[in-house]
Amino acid sequence: MSDLRDQLTTLREEAQQHLQAAADAEALRIWHQAYLGKKGTLTTILRRLGTLPPDERPLVGKTANAVKQALEAAYGARVETLRREALERSLHAKALDVTLPGRPAGPGHLHLVTQTMRQVCAILGRMGFQVYAGPEVELEEFNFTLLNIPPHHPARDMHDTFWVDDDVVLRTHTSPNQVRVMRGHRPPFRVIVPGKCYRVDFDPSHNWMFHQIEGFAVGAHITLTDLKGTIVTLLRQMFGEKRRVRLRGSYFPFTEPSIEADLECTVCDGAGCGLCKDTGWLEIIPGGMIHPQVLRTCGIDPDRYGGFAFGAGLDRLAALKFGVYDIRYFYQNDLRFLQQF
Ligand code: DAH
Repeated sequence: MSDLRDQLTTLREEAQQHLQAAADAEALRIWHQAYLGKKGTLTTILRRLGTLPPDERPLVGKTANAVKQALEAAYGARVETLRREALERSLHAKALDVTLPGRPAGPGHLHLVTQTMRQVCAILGRMGFQVYAGPEVELEEFNFTLLNIPPHHPARDMHDTFWVDDDVVLRTHTSPNQVRVMRGHRPPFRVIVPGKCYRVDFDPSHNWMFHQIEGFAVGAHITLTDLKGTIVTLLRQMFGEKRRVRLRGSYFPFTEPSIEADLECTVCDGAGCGLCKDTGWLEIIPGGMIHPQVLRTCGIDPDRYGGFAFGAGLDRLAALKFGVYDIRYFYQNDLRFLQQF
């Protein structure tokens, strides 16, 4: 009997020493298996209780149970100690102060193209233009035919068109809205239609998606001078009173006569540079007097009414306003670019 009890006492001391030496989860697992596991030392001793004479069993059994309980408690305490130590260590190592306030998210700003669009709408709004919207997925008929660009007209070649269907396109310009608005309204009216347009194009001054703003006015006494005044006022308010604007003759199937408004180069002030290809001028707003045929198609009598129209590229205006010479930057959503403004 004393034999087994001695073994138990030795076991208890030895196990407790080993437990203090176990420094991580793996060591603890091995320790638990060695002493308290199914094939562990204590379990083996407990099994041998049955071989003892009956009068010795209660006392040895009691000692064995006490050892078991003591070891289990010591094991639990050691697990807890190690867990705390690990936590302490990681708190010190990462020096994480959970009481610090979070980093505030800085205020953002509207996208450069949105800012430009709003500025243009505000200026034209003060001149009495009302904002309309039209579909980006457009009928070929509205995008081309009703604007005097029948099938096989060479002007179609200038619009590298995304076709959706045999007779449906992604609008290549905002001009089809001239037809949409004129068909549904009686003159006089002044309208602007800002929005996205699409063309199969990709280089520093072209992106497959871009923005235009269409402007037009129809009434009994509208002349080319009104168009000139509108464009010059718009450009002066955007680029300063001193910046010169010039109008030259041009050609568009849906205007007659057609013009192109140029802005004195914003980089070289007219001296000539890479941006203006040494001409001192930037082609900026095309327009003209709405073609009588287009008015007629829209149910407006060209003998009673006339109108002007123009269509400005908003990305180009934004590029000049902010001094960005590759418009594709506008659409890369790169915060390093956007946060500079
Ligand atoms: N829609 C034309 C284009 O994208 C630009 C344009 C020219 C619009 C003359 C007009 C206009 O309203 O009168 O190429």
